[in-house]
Amino acid sequence: MELNKNTILITGGTSGFGYEFANRLLALGNTVIITGRDQAKLDLTKKKLPGVYTFQSDVSDPEAIEKLFERATAQFPQLNILINNAGEMRKIDLQDESIDLDNIVREININLSGPIRMVQAFLPHLKTKSNAAILNVTSGLALIPFPLTPIYGATKAGLRFYTKSLRVQLKNTGIRVFELVAPGSSTPLHDKFSGDVDDSRLMDPVKLIDVAIKGLQSDKFEIYPGLAKVMNIVSRIAPSVIFNQLKKITEKSLAKTKA
Ligand SMILES: NC(=O)c1ccc[n+]([C@@H]2O[C@H](COP(=O)([O-])OP(=O)(O)OC[C@H]3O[C@@H](n4cnc5c(N)ncnc54)[C@H](OP(=O)(O)O)[C@@H]3O)[C@@H](O)[C@H]2O)c1
Repeated sequence: MELNKNTILITGGTSGFGYEFANRLLALGNTVIITGRDQAKLDLTKKKLPGVYTFQSDVSDPEAIEKLFERATAQFPQLNILINNAGEMRKIDLQDESIDLDNIVREININLSGPIRMVQAFLPHLKTKSNAAILNVTSGLALIPFPLTPIYGATKAGLRFYTKSLRVQLKNTGIRVFELVAPGSSTPLHDKFSGDVDDSRLMDPVKLIDVAIKGLQSDKFEIYPGLAKVMNIVSRIAPSVIFNQLKKITEKSLAKTKA
C-alpha cells in the first residue's frame, strides 16, 4: 500500500516501536496521531516529533476507546490506518499468591481486548475509506510460548489468531489487515528482561520498523523481521528446540526470584 498522505492512528506511540513508527511515518508524509496513558510522555514525544498529534487514552478502558474514536474521527475524518501497537509484557509467577486476579488479567485487557475493542470501534469508519488498513503488533512469542510471561504469550497468540480471522472476514472490504510478528527488540518493554535473556540477540527497533514499513508498502500481510522469521520456521519443524531454551530461562529466573 502507499505509505504517504495517510492519516494514521498508533496506540502507544511514546516509546519503542510506536515511537519509531510515528517517526518514520511522519517522514514519509503521513498525518500521525499517537496515544498513550501518560500525558508527560505524550508531551515529550510531541516535543521530539513536532508534527505528531497526541491523545491521552488507555486501550484497556472501553470508555476511553469510545471517546478516542469520537474525538479522533471528528478532528481527523480522513483517518484510514489503525496500528494496534500498545502492549505490556510482564514476568508472572503463577504460584505467587500475592498477585491478585485483576493484576493477572491486566495484560489481556491491554494486549488482546484492547485491539479487538479498537477494531470494533473504528471498523465502520475505516470501511468508508478506499485505502484503509489495520496493523496488529503480535510477537515471536505468539509462535512459541515463553513460560516466564504466561499471560503475555496467551494474549499475543490470541491476537495472532484474531488477526488471521479478521483478514478473512474483511476480505471484501477496502481494509487490508497486517500482522507484525516482532522479535525481541531493545525497547523499554524489554528492559525488564535484561539479565534473563541474551540482550545481544535483540533487534534494533529502528531496523525492525524499517522492515515493517517495507512490509506494509509491499502488501506483505504477515511481516516477520529478523529472528521472528527463524522462529516461524522452527516453530513448525522443531518447536521444542526454542521452547526448551525458553523453559530453562524461566526456571532460572523463577528460582532467582524465590532465592
Ligand atoms: N520490545 C519487544 O521485544 C517486543 C517484541 C515483540 C512484540 N512487542 C510488542 O510491540 C508492542 C510495542 O512494544 P514496545 O517494545 O515498543 O513497548 P514500550 O517501549 O514499552 O512502549 C509501549 C507503548 O505503549 C503504551 N501503552 C502501554 N500500555 C498502554 C495502554 N494500556 N493504553 C495505551 N497505551 C499504552 C506506552 O505508553 P504509556 O505507558 O504512557 O501508556 C508506550 O507508548 C507491544 O504490543 C509489544 O507487546 C515488543
